[in-house]
Amino acid sequence: MAQDKYYITTPIYYPSGQLHIGHSYTTVAADAMARYKRLRGADVFFLTGMDEHGQKIQRTAEKAGMTPQAFVDAMAVDIKALWELLDVRYDGFIRTTDAHHVAAVQAIVQRLKDQDDIYKGSYEGLYCTPCEAFWTPSQAPEGRCPDCGGPLEPTEESCYFFRLSRYQDRLMDLFMREDPFVRPVSRAHEMINNFLKPGLDDVAVTRTSFNWGVHVPFDPDHVVYVWIDALSNYITALGYPDQLTLFDRYWPADVHLIGKEIMRFHSLIWPALLMALDLPIPKRIFGHGWLLLKEGKMSKSKGNVVDPVILVDKYGVDAIRYFLLREVPFGADGVFSNQALIERINSDLANDLGNLLSRTAAMMVKTFPQGLPEERIGDPVDEELDEEADRTLDEVEGHMEQLEFSLSLEAIWAQIGRCNKYIDVTMPWILAREEADHPRLAAVLYTLADNLRRLAVMISPFMIRTPALIRDQLGIPDKDPVSGTDYTAWESARQRGLYRANDQVRKGQALFPRIDVEKELEALETLLP
Ligand code: MSP
Repeated sequence: MAQDKYYITTPIYYPSGQLHIGHSYTTVAADAMARYKRLRGADVFFLTGMDEHGQKIQRTAEKAGMTPQAFVDAMAVDIKALWELLDVRYDGFIRTTDAHHVAAVQAIVQRLKDQDDIYKGSYEGLYCTPCEAFWTPSQAPEGRCPDCGGPLEPTEESCYFFRLSRYQDRLMDLFMREDPFVRPVSRAHEMINNFLKPGLDDVAVTRTSFNWGVHVPFDPDHVVYVWIDALSNYITALGYPDQLTLFDRYWPADVHLIGKEIMRFHSLIWPALLMALDLPIPKRIFGHGWLLLKEGKMSKSKGNVVDPVILVDKYGVDAIRYFLLREVPFGADGVFSNQALIERINSDLANDLGNLLSRTAAMMVKTFPQGLPEERIGDPVDEELDEEADRTLDEVEGHMEQLEFSLSLEAIWAQIGRCNKYIDVTMPWILAREEADHPRLAAVLYTLADNLRRLAVMISPFMIRTPALIRDQLGIPDKDPVSGTDYTAWESARQRGLYRANDQVRKGQALFPRIDVEKELEALETLLP
């Protein structure tokens, strides 16, 4: 059977300010999924990147005394550094100022014009002179600029429109298909009720009021405005329309991960554009919820954003990745708070996982410094724990297919909980006292070590560094030089009994040091909102 391919994307982010924990959320989720699929043997392409055009970027650059290009070049360095800090491993990084992308967007716009999918008209809006921005009446219900609060004037601007209305029926069919391409399904209903049922209007896709963008080839006073430029990144990054090797290999996308606020563009304009270009539609668009602060939405302009760099610096990248994907069911909105973060680190990471490893390694080193003996006396409770590990793996696989990250982690932590319970029930510290009980003790510790080995693999799409630390303390190599067993492979988590007794077990540093909640909250207050 041919190897499955898997193409996953994040939105391309506006580099108008430093990216915050909300952007990191989408990117870390996509990374976890990409890593999971790689572990399952798929041929993965994970794309992220930057949406670099538009008036806002132009103005921000001007304020910084830079050309827009110099400004976005500097931001690209920062953004790539952030993804590196978060252990995000992408395969492609698109920038909409890339020469190939610009030429591709021009070719797309030309084709749309040639086949009468775009036409010239005029856009009526409310104009804010100081901000040089257009607003629709629904965006500015009080007739004042949503950005600066200043007065707005009704104005007309010449622009090109994309005939979105032409694709109304085909889009409706797409939404009605049995396996909905928009997830969660509630978001598909929103699109049907709010946009498809009332009827789609054509959309303005060019502007003349600024010039930092892709120029329309047949009317260079116009620049392509936001969505055709931005959405087409998902195909131009694969070489469309003229270098089709990657495109043929990976398109259509298996999933576009996005925040819910851009669902309309991704689920209506994007498929219509692809229909116009006669290209296949992505298999799935997943709109996740927002990470909110107690006071509401994080926003660059309000300046109340949570900086992932500070958090990673304080607690380590694995703790932050774990928290982002564990705390809130993927799809729903959730509140980010320092307290919730610290509590999760203490309870799930330091206590549940960290203690399980340190107790296991400590008992192994103490009683069996030469490695676990061959003579072991098993018990049905050992078998039960192993069976639960089998089931846990099945559950994780089921949840991952649905991008249910928090449920995957919940399932893994339930097994960690069962391992801790197993320690309470088997009471190895009592077995250690009498030599006669050592064969039983050896079986208990073997069961724990083998379960930890399997758990280390299961957490590896989410936490990048911890699995190696777990293996290191238990004397497990990444790859066994003799048998060739790959202990990092997903399939090794499906097998029981791969742990090999050895004398390299050591009680290392705590995986996640416990945090003094009160002290830390105080310190964080000064660093974060
Ligand atoms: N450039 C457009 C996207 C074009 S995609 C073809 C854009 N950029 S953005 O910089 O504003 O990033 C928006 C995305 O960042 C959201 O869709 C979401 O993925 C992520 N998030 C930004 N803030 C967020 C939260 N507070 N919570 C969760 N995700 C958030 O829109």
